[in-house]
Amino acid sequence: MKTISHTYINMNMKNTPINQEVVSRKIKESKLPNIGKASIRELLKVVNQIEEETGEKFIRMEMGIPGLEAVQIGVDAEIEALKKGVASKYVNIEGIPEFKTEGQRFVKLFLDVDVEKSGCIPTVGSTSGSFSTFMTLGNLYDKPYTHLFIDPGFPLHKQQLRALNHNFESFDVYDYRGDKLHEKLESHLSKGNITSILYSNPNNPSWICFTDKELRIIGELANKYNVIVMEDLAYFGMDFRKNYSVPGEPPYQPTVAKYTDNFILLISSSKAFSYAGQRLGMLVVSDKIFNLSSEYLKMSYNSDIFGQALIYGSLYAINAGTAHSPQYAVTSIFRAANNKEFNYREDVLEYAERAEKMKKLFTTNGFKIVYDKDEDDPIAHGFYFTFSYPGFTGEELLEELLYYGISGISLAITGSTRTEGLRACVSLVHQNQLPDLEYRLKKFKEHHPLN
Ligand SMILES: Cc1ncc(COP(=O)(O)O)c(C=O)c1O
Repeated sequence: MKTISHTYINMNMKNTPINQEVVSRKIKESKLPNIGKASIRELLKVVNQIEEETGEKFIRMEMGIPGLEAVQIGVDAEIEALKKGVASKYVNIEGIPEFKTEGQRFVKLFLDVDVEKSGCIPTVGSTSGSFSTFMTLGNLYDKPYTHLFIDPGFPLHKQQLRALNHNFESFDVYDYRGDKLHEKLESHLSKGNITSILYSNPNNPSWICFTDKELRIIGELANKYNVIVMEDLAYFGMDFRKNYSVPGEPPYQPTVAKYTDNFILLISSSKAFSYAGQRLGMLVVSDKIFNLSSEYLKMSYNSDIFGQALIYGSLYAINAGTAHSPQYAVTSIFRAANNKEFNYREDVLEYAERAEKMKKLFTTNGFKIVYDKDEDDPIAHGFYFTFSYPGFTGEELLEELLYYGISGISLAITGSTRTEGLRACVSLVHQNQLPDLEYRLKKFKEHHPLN
């Protein structure tokens, strides 16, 4: 069969927006047993190839990467630091003093949480912060380390635990919102084997945000069962239903730190400051956890103090510190935000606008939003949303949408039980592509009519 353009039609083929023959062939050539289960990078490769051969641009929603320019204050500070000669110097593993000062202020002004400077530690992205924390927690107690994920979540965190050969459990929070979270969480914690919990808030992939009631439940159960909560704030302040961006004034970014001292916060500059490439995150270790002492730590580290073991044992072993210039960049961004000279929210609000419009296009064409509520409230419009189409599994939907020039990832790889769903990331979809998206979704509906 010879195809002449993407509008070619024959008896067995529908007039899909992207040439069917090319899509089928590229899927086949990828040799992936099931394209619907492909990892993000695998999918990326196939979509790139289809785009190249057909000359058609996809609505690319598979990658969770910033779609905006990096905050200029950071870029300028970084260049200046390099010009002053920081490149030749080894870094202090605890972080440069300015970073710790402004990081501590940022935590106070935007979360209303008090923490010693020693607990504000720069890391090579929040990814290195979670890895070093998992590593240290694995050496904290005599018992085998078991971690609990409140899913859905960021697949790399599970990969980190696998790489360290640690155990983990997880549950999808979809059916356990509000008061129901208490019983479900307690059923895991009361077994006594869990050392730590991790969730992201706002959540990747679902964009649900825990309510204060839910954060209180997590915090109080962490106190009751002596568990450490790793709260991943990769999308800091990006629940755009509220404005958390005025320093020192409520409302503050909600956090479990209001309800427990057993916390480690993971703050990332990747999305809120569009600074992903320079790999700069901040671990915020509560005073209580920083000073936690355990004789077992001495078996793997020179210190029995958690914070010392984390910095001079794990972080030293992994990266031997975080590069100078990104620390100067984020110090400057923190300082400007702290001093009310820069409002990070205004820069990223664009994502909410895109999400609102895109969700509307999906729902008016028969798609459903999978994770749609925070208790009784509709979820925020933000960086991600999740969707499904009646009669399709997530894997089937992902594959079928390729013929319509739309790419996302399956929720199945995120620990979600809602396997009918896909995750859409709005960051790379520009407003001028929305008419194309609308046309493609309409075509999809036309070809897959709903009763
Ligand atoms: C929930 C979550 N945590 C952590 C990260 C990683 O952040 P960083 O770039 O700071 O390593 C991401 C990035 O996509 C994320 O979505």
